[in-house]
Amino acid sequence: DCAHGFASRVIAWQAANGRHDLPWQKTRDPYRIWISEIMLQQTQVQTVLPYYARFLACFPTLEALAGAPLERVLELWSGLGYYARARHLHRCAQAVAAGAGKLSADPEENARLPGVGRSTAAAISVFAFGRRAAILDGNVKRVLARCFAAESAATATQEERRMWALAEALLPGSGIESYSQGMMDLGATVCTRHQPRCAVCPLHEICIACRDGRQAELPRRRTK
Ligand code: ADE
Repeated sequence: DCAHGFASRVIAWQAANGRHDLPWQKTRDPYRIWISEIMLQQTQVQTVLPYYARFLACFPTLEALAGAPLERVLELWSGLGYYARARHLHRCAQAVAAGAGKLSADPEENARLPGVGRSTAAAISVFAFGRRAAILDGNVKRVLARCFAAESAATATQEERRMWALAEALLPGSGIESYSQGMMDLGATVCTRHQPRCAVCPLHEICIACRDGRQAELPRRRTK
């Protein structure tokens, strides 16, 4: 069916053309996956790499982060921007260390942590635990909006709900890690905001924006 065709294209593309050597792809440690996903929320991969290495050298475990002074955490974050992320990380580490002691495999549970939204919680469940959960970050949204030519719904809330339903309907029965990484890599390297490289996109035969030449106008910006 349609969902199967979509996911299998993304998975095959990921195997041949996706990124496979990122440091957070070499671990299943939920703590390390969590740190990577928080750093990657508003920052590009190339910028994150040295910060990620230094941060984990300093705080190799959740306990180490929880026990560190906030000043030290902010020092290591210095230059990455969006410092609320660092404050939240530190506060989360302390809350988790004082409670369960580790992150959960359940995305709904992790989404209750400060700074961890639905998409980041799903990424932790997928990459650390192999759970089947939908990721919908900015890159994935753009891929879906173009492929399915999603028109803006009446309200932002309706639109958001529709995109989540679409992201969930497209999840493959197996290969969730390659699929999820593939969607993010596709958005970051092929289905870019400006001048997407449709000629090398695994979705180009089924992409409505590509068919109709509407890549530049999708996703639509909300006027508000
Ligand atoms: N952006 C958010 N999560 C990512 C990941 N796991 N790999 C690459 N880019 C990302």
